[in-house]
Amino acid sequence: MGFVIAVDGPAASGKGTIANRLGALYGYPVLDSGLLYRGVGVRLSESGGDLDDAAAATAAAMALEPAELERPQLRTRAAGELASRVAIHPAVRLALRDFQVQFAAREPGAVIDGRDIGTVIAPAAQAKLYIAASAKVRADRRWKQLTGQGETVTYEEILADILRRDERDCGRAESPMTQASDAVLLDTSEMTIEQAFDAARRIVETARARSGNLPG
Ligand code: C5P
Repeated sequence: MGFVIAVDGPAASGKGTIANRLGALYGYPVLDSGLLYRGVGVRLSESGGDLDDAAAATAAAMALEPAELERPQLRTRAAGELASRVAIHPAVRLALRDFQVQFAAREPGAVIDGRDIGTVIAPAAQAKLYIAASAKVRADRRWKQLTGQGETVTYEEILADILRRDERDCGRAESPMTQASDAVLLDTSEMTIEQAFDAARRIVETARARSGNLPG
């Protein structure tokens, strides 16, 4: 295993941006694990399947092709909702696990963002960050992002989405969203992207020094 950076946290906390920038800084590939769940949800809904049907959702997870992760449909508001519904099925999570574990094993390192990376997928990750932000700040960021993509949606609708998704992600029995005991909490509510990235970079550099990996 190379140097693994696990970046967990709730929707629109800034974890995706931080993960991408850390990957660019260190030259590591980046996996947005949320896209896997989005891919399963979109695949299932496009085929007319029932999101509550664990067997159908698992079949969709097993059939998912990496190329599908590039589809713009996966980045929509609706896909986020579909993702959080299929993500509650333990067999779906299991079907998506190997791909993530193999990604984490890439040399010289990898960055993965999600909800259960530091706890379940890569518990031995050398650097673990848990990115948080208040629901209001997250809703504001997500609203700007989605309206920028051309979606028509109100701030209140996005806030409701975020609160519902938080509840579902934290409340599920299998791999709930939670901060790993050895993860460093970074609350980005009052931070610009630059400040958040800088704080994240310092956390990772401390971890790299500890594990004997020099930055760069
Ligand atoms: O991060 P993103 O918003 O794309 O994630 C969409 C949904 O996928 C989350 O709300 C969550 O239910 C699920 N997910 C998960 N585990 C992950 C990544 C995402 O359960 N590692």
